[in-house]
Amino acid sequence: MTSGKKNLANILVVGSGGREHALAWKFAQSQRVGKVFVAPGNAGMFSGSKISQAVLESRPVVVADQPGDLERLIRFCRINDCELVVVGPEGPLGLGVVDALQESGIRVFGPTKAAARLETSKAFARRILEKAGVPSPEFLIAHGWADLHPMIEVWPWPEGMVIKVDGLAAGKGVFVCKTREDAGRAVASLKLMDETSGGALSANGFVCEEVLVGREVSAFVLCDGRDFLSFGMACDHKRLLDGDRGPNTGGMGAYSPVPWLNQDQGTAWPAWNDAPLTSVEAEIDEKVFHPVLKLMDQTGSPFRGFLFAGLMMTSTGPKVLEFNVRLGDPETQVLLPRLNEDLFEVIMAATDGRLKEAFPDGLQWSRANALHVVKAAAGYPGIDGVTIRSGDPVFGESKHLVFYSGVVSSKGQSGLETSGGRVLGVTVMADDLNSAHVLAYESINEVNFDGAQWRTDIGK
Ligand code: AMP
Ligand code: GLY
Repeated sequence: MTSGKKNLANILVVGSGGREHALAWKFAQSQRVGKVFVAPGNAGMFSGSKISQAVLESRPVVVADQPGDLERLIRFCRINDCELVVVGPEGPLGLGVVDALQESGIRVFGPTKAAARLETSKAFARRILEKAGVPSPEFLIAHGWADLHPMIEVWPWPEGMVIKVDGLAAGKGVFVCKTREDAGRAVASLKLMDETSGGALSANGFVCEEVLVGREVSAFVLCDGRDFLSFGMACDHKRLLDGDRGPNTGGMGAYSPVPWLNQDQGTAWPAWNDAPLTSVEAEIDEKVFHPVLKLMDQTGSPFRGFLFAGLMMTSTGPKVLEFNVRLGDPETQVLLPRLNEDLFEVIMAATDGRLKEAFPDGLQWSRANALHVVKAAAGYPGIDGVTIRSGDPVFGESKHLVFYSGVVSSKGQSGLETSGGRVLGVTVMADDLNSAHVLAYESINEVNFDGAQWRTDIGK
């Protein structure tokens, strides 16, 4: 079962959210791509002609921690002639899906399990940052509860302490504590969560960090194991409610580029690239990505994949809060619409280790401002025993880009219903950020469902 025409490549994207929808959408635009499969994807992605679900023996292919998942994935790729696999989320990367596919001779883009430790182990990331001399918050490592209590008593940092669970905790394991009382409450919540998880939460210990003050930004690079290219900057709104209030979420909206970062770039943009590197991006490349990637290579874990630094722009320059070994969600939904390149060609060059040869002037980006607003189901993010609502019909159409995440197909008129969490997001493009903001909210009701919640201040 190959793609209808000769020389067209079939691609498989692993994951099921808005980020994977955006990846599949971008790959589908390539003249060199035949079919785009997504494993397992979601029902909202499959309305276009090129994008379909990876199904084997009438079952969707999933990549979770279940026996047989990887074998099914490999078999699917072979049967369907997949020339390239791109892994979206951190979960499968942490399970070693890249290692398994590589061993089977399948071309895959993403870091190995060892390289993915930059995200899966906060202690590993901190040690790499320290060794590479990258600006980052001061930290202490607690191997368990017994280490954590005395650290809170000592309280070494004036702005406060961030307590982070080590390992993948989907954004739920981070507590920013301004006072010792805050830290006491954080420990109580963590203990409850740990009991519920049967001790899994605390198994890898904790990292305590000084609280940094500044504005946060997400910086992305694309790495081929040897070299890297900038993959843009974006801002994500992590809290549920307007004005950065309420609980942390996976991200309620994003925008790119980030005008407040680039105020010093003037108008001297060369004609060959709509949006070249700004001095801030160049500084981040030099102070953060270059030393870290060099060290990863030297320590025997060369990094190939997308690397995403969560940065705090402080009064003394950018400092790294965390690394993610993948693209961000929803940042991808504002980065990819601005990429003036064929994503298939870009990723093939990266998997061949020839990024710099293929793109000597870097990647080309549109100067347009992209803004994305997430619509989440009622009850999201589902903390403190709140149930997230599902089963509501999703209806309407938009002239803008709609990327789906928490939807399943339904027999109802609309064909789709909510399945909880972040349900969908809309990306608009405009000449400046304010126009993008206005446009996004003018059309916010175009695609809707009962109980939808969204922020009204994305890009403000
Ligand atoms: P992380 O999962 O490490 O990115 O942390 C989640 C969020 O907690 C970040 O996006 C920040 O808003 C906040 N945060 C984490 N570390 C720090 C820090 N050292 N100082 C201030 N805020 C932080
Ligand atoms: N939006 C943040 C993340 O993907 O981790």
